[in-house]
Amino acid sequence: MGSVKMAVKIGNLNINSFVYVPPMAGVTDLVFRSLIRKLDPSCLLATEMVSSRGLMNNPNCRIMHIGENETPIGIQLFGHEPDVMAKAAKLAVASGADFIDINMGCPVPKITKGKDGCALMREPSLAREIVIAVKESVDIPVTVKFRLGWDDGSKNAVEFGQMIEASGASAVTVHGRTRAQLYSGKADWDFIAAVKRNLSIPVFGNGDVFSLENAINLIEKTNCDGVAIARGTMGNPWLAHRINQYLIHSKIVEEPGLIERLTWAYTHAKMLVEYKGPRIGINESRRHVINYTKGMLHGATYRGQLTQINNLDELKDILLNLSHAIGGIIAQDELKAALNQELLEVKA
Ligand SMILES: Cc1cc2nc3c(=O)[nH]c(=O)nc-3n(C[C@H](O)[C@H](O)[C@H](O)COP(=O)(O)O)c2cc1C
Repeated sequence: MGSVKMAVKIGNLNINSFVYVPPMAGVTDLVFRSLIRKLDPSCLLATEMVSSRGLMNNPNCRIMHIGENETPIGIQLFGHEPDVMAKAAKLAVASGADFIDINMGCPVPKITKGKDGCALMREPSLAREIVIAVKESVDIPVTVKFRLGWDDGSKNAVEFGQMIEASGASAVTVHGRTRAQLYSGKADWDFIAAVKRNLSIPVFGNGDVFSLENAINLIEKTNCDGVAIARGTMGNPWLAHRINQYLIHSKIVEEPGLIERLTWAYTHAKMLVEYKGPRIGINESRRHVINYTKGMLHGATYRGQLTQINNLDELKDILLNLSHAIGGIIAQDELKAALNQELLEVKA
């Protein structure tokens, strides 16, 4: 693996990251992305998906907000009307997107019943029209994210990917499951490998990467240009950095320790409260802080309490109690000091 040194090229964009943190609705907001970037400034990231139709009435919605100097960043659009998608793409450019990602993988019935998301894998000629219309409307690269197909009997990811490439897309992300599978079963990396073999634009393999080892295995097995990691980054903003440090610099960065993880959990919640206000901020931060405690000794005991937090003070108390349960008074004092400093340490 040590020989892989080159950045991924998406159209005219040179990306110095083998990791793509793809869209996750309700997760990959400005705060989430900024935490990943603090550790790995060059990481390839995208916004949550946004409705192209919705943008026609509300072009400045929060999902479109991109941080100052935030790059490389994609805005992911969903929709099935080529002209509306083309207009939405122009809005994404105005918001500062470096590339447009088109969602052709979302399996949720609310999305697919309107021909959006993965439903487009059953309408390849419409999908083609969409890519062409979006591509013609903007000067930045267009990428597409899709699955293996609609269901077991219609796994068309290879032909679909070839069609997407021929329509002008600059890269694709392939989630190794069908729409019927949703998130069940294991992602089929062999099938992703078949897509990669048949395309000449970069392919990001996606599905079930939760560790550095998983990332190395996916790239070895599929020969993909990069790896897209969604759930594995929740509560673990260090993962992208650790993978890139290994693949680009052959360097093994240690896993974060207890105090580091709990400090980031608190800071994540605090930033969400600052960005979205106390009600939404606390509400959304519950799932995030729970994710930071996954795998921790005694974590399960405290996760119930974390689902109930009403403010940052309650969160702080629970995290301090958790640190005490794991590492006694020394860990608790260390966490107290770290939280008072409110500084996120970034290890090289
Ligand atoms: C909470 C959540 C929200 C998601 N939202 C989106 C989305 O907005 N657009 C999209 O293309 N995929 C979305 N996905 C799918 C992920 O980008 C990814 O393809 C999938 O989770 C498989 O990758 P993983 O095994 O690394 O999690 C979402 C996944 C999760 C768990």
